[in-house]
Amino acid sequence: MEQKEQWGSRSGFILAAVGSAIGLGNIWRYPYVVYENGGGAFLLPYLIALFTAAIPILLMEYAIGHKKRGSAPLSYKRLSDRFEWIGWWQVLVSFVIITYYMVIIGWAASYTYFSMGTQWGDDTQSFFLSQYLNVGEDFWSFGGIQWQILIPVILVWALVYWVLHRGVNRGIELASKILMPLLIVLLIIFTIRAITLPGAMDGLDVLFTPDFSKMLNTDVWFAAYGQVFFSLSLGAGIMITYSSYLKKKSDLANSGMIAGLANSGFEFLAAIAVFGALGFLAVQQNVAVTEVVSSGPMLAFVVFPNIINAFPSLNSLFGVLFFGTLVFAGFTSAVSLLEPGISAFKEKMNISRKAAVNWICGLGLLVSIAYTTRSGLSLLDIVDNFVNKFGILFSALVAMILIGWVGKQLNPLRDHINSVSDIQVGKWWIVMLKFISPLILSYILISGTISEINEPYGDGGYPISALSIFGYGLVIALIIGAFLLQMKKWPPIQSSDEKERHKHGA
Ligand code: TRP
Repeated sequence: MEQKEQWGSRSGFILAAVGSAIGLGNIWRYPYVVYENGGGAFLLPYLIALFTAAIPILLMEYAIGHKKRGSAPLSYKRLSDRFEWIGWWQVLVSFVIITYYMVIIGWAASYTYFSMGTQWGDDTQSFFLSQYLNVGEDFWSFGGIQWQILIPVILVWALVYWVLHRGVNRGIELASKILMPLLIVLLIIFTIRAITLPGAMDGLDVLFTPDFSKMLNTDVWFAAYGQVFFSLSLGAGIMITYSSYLKKKSDLANSGMIAGLANSGFEFLAAIAVFGALGFLAVQQNVAVTEVVSSGPMLAFVVFPNIINAFPSLNSLFGVLFFGTLVFAGFTSAVSLLEPGISAFKEKMNISRKAAVNWICGLGLLVSIAYTTRSGLSLLDIVDNFVNKFGILFSALVAMILIGWVGKQLNPLRDHINSVSDIQVGKWWIVMLKFISPLILSYILISGTISEINEPYGDGGYPISALSIFGYGLVIALIIGAFLLQMKKWPPIQSSDEKERHKHGA
């Protein structure tokens, strides 16, 4: 068997973890989530979610991966034979996310090109929906592959494939070391440009004016937990996988704090830049800021081209910079979404890293073709909604309950963190993971499920059959798939490896 791969340095690991965290979620997701959920008042649920759930779980995932030194399924199996499926569940979740995540990066790559000479014209909405995506009328018709989307998507897959083929150290770590500093510079340029535009302050006003009435709404809390989990790449086996590549003596608590704060800082700055730019657009069009805000894909691909059109000068340049930033930010996250699957298949099938990369990327590319059809946008929106809520949040809840209550592993994991870290993690960590977070998350998930059933996602825009299959059906299929994968036998090499470890008291 190949030797277990390792990061070259701790800073390489931190950059890769931050590279995973900072992605499309920070640039197009965070700003509109804040806006839709109470503006400035969203900060409170966001910070509560961050400190009671996200950072504790981040540390838990680090500890599991570092202590058990395996992919997510193997690490969970080493915690308890009955837990392996949780690891597979998370691997499957990250795989589903990557299949559409790559398509959004593909769009951004196309738009980087369209920026030259602002090829989207004046009607950016019909350019995006009708000309570029060529959205169809009927969901189930699909209506054939759209080559103008598939070609950039293949291109992005090829680049990600190449980085993953080069391995953990020469691929992922190197890419993160180059792209992360570049991203920060780009974001700073952007923020400065945005807040110095006329009208920017109106945009910031809208972003930060708190609407406290929304705080009693469970949907707002659902959104806050969903955002921090997505943004920090939790509940998808990524941090377990990444920390399994750390050297034995590596500070965990400190790295977790740095990753968590860097990610939030980035998204905070991105929100300021985005809303500054929105304020500018509103002034140009002589409308209220609330009229120009838009959500999800529309914000980046319809509203931003409009903003770039309205720039006083250097329009093409800023277009290239903005969409290039999306591509770069998405890239290291994409790499991280594939690594849990690669490491898990490599171990369970006892194949080489390169073979695992070929399989996972090949399969991923095939699935992502579905999102390049005329129903791609709807499909993407449905899968994204369900996988985030009922994949990430739900699997994280189940993991907390199994580890804290069934396996009673929190104390040993805490001891492990403290034995390698400068900052000592206190009892609060256990209280959060055992009581507070599971309670809040259970409440949110139950009430969220009820409201999902009462008001089907998408305000009636999607056929119920599509929601049943690509929403609920998919979520259930992932759990069943996880159990099936658990049933497959491990190659002998992994179990002997484990005995070896026990002998040395690891
Ligand atoms: N965190 C990334 C972003 O903000 C996306 C991402 C990478 C992710 N890995 C993940 C989201 C795992 C959920 C789970 O865009």
